[in-house]
Amino acid sequence: MTKHSDSSAPGVAWDEYVLGYKDEVIHMTSHRSVAREGAFVMPLLRPGMSVLDAGCGPGSITMGFSQVVAPGIVTGIDADAEQIIRANILARQLDLSNTSFSVADIYQLPFDDQSFDAVFCHNVFMHIANPEAAMDELFRVCKPGGFIAVRDGLGSFDQLCQVSMNGVERPFSDFMRALSRFHGGIPDIGVHLKRVLYCSGFRDIRPSSYNEIYHEPNDLMMLRSWFQPVLAGTFGERAVATGLMTRGELDNVIAKMQQWPTDPTAISIISWIEYIAWKPRPGTP
Ligand SMILES: C[S@@+](CC[C@H](N)C(=O)[O-])C[C@H]1O[C@@H](n2cnc3c(N)ncnc32)[C@H](O)[C@@H]1O
Repeated sequence: MTKHSDSSAPGVAWDEYVLGYKDEVIHMTSHRSVAREGAFVMPLLRPGMSVLDAGCGPGSITMGFSQVVAPGIVTGIDADAEQIIRANILARQLDLSNTSFSVADIYQLPFDDQSFDAVFCHNVFMHIANPEAAMDELFRVCKPGGFIAVRDGLGSFDQLCQVSMNGVERPFSDFMRALSRFHGGIPDIGVHLKRVLYCSGFRDIRPSSYNEIYHEPNDLMMLRSWFQPVLAGTFGERAVATGLMTRGELDNVIAKMQQWPTDPTAISIISWIEYIAWKPRPGTP
């Protein structure tokens, strides 16, 4: 497992995030919203609730909770200081006085036991190496009678467009999944989260799922803008250095991705699994 520390956030170490923090990736997560990524939790939110968004990234989903639960408090945490700075600036611009963001590690949350009515965690578990420890920590800060809403990839990177390696058509997914594992991630975490939730003590676990389909040229262009920087940057270099792919394969893959938007046969499906689960009150089974 590779660990990464940020000198701007002393004391915080975390599993290296496979997509990295390139502007293009932050651009992707900044376009996430409660309307789509948070829709499964919205019917449960009420004014006055306290909400934690763990691994909030740039906070675009988090800030969607602010009006719904006001005057309740919304707190976003992330291990990456740069994203937290951006989130705090945006929250101030939007005058969200009930919302704050801080740098913290999901494995050691700086909150008392039973602090939050609702805990939200989106697309974080597939990027961390010890989901059980993280879930125990989220359980600890959740109030009895409160709930967690967790959403992650269902077989992440499973059905992305084809690329060619050594002249052979192969799913780009194979490479992304290998890269994710190499960096300590668990691309198949989605289907295991029910067990992880149960083992931490959550009960009344309710799953649902959601598919995103990318096949129009604009969709494929967007998809390419998320994945190309991964390959063209440090992660592609490491993939070559560690033998995950040869230099020639890397160049071929990048070239093939260039064609996704104009390939009339290209299609990618990104599948998500969503779980709502409750922390029992004392005395309930
Ligand atoms: C794919 S992003 C998702 C961000 C946001 N939840 C969203 O869906 O837009 C994963 C986030 O998890 C954060 N992360 C990874 N390991 C972490 C840890 N140990 N503690 C806190 N955050 C972590 C990363 O910094 C990154 O912002």
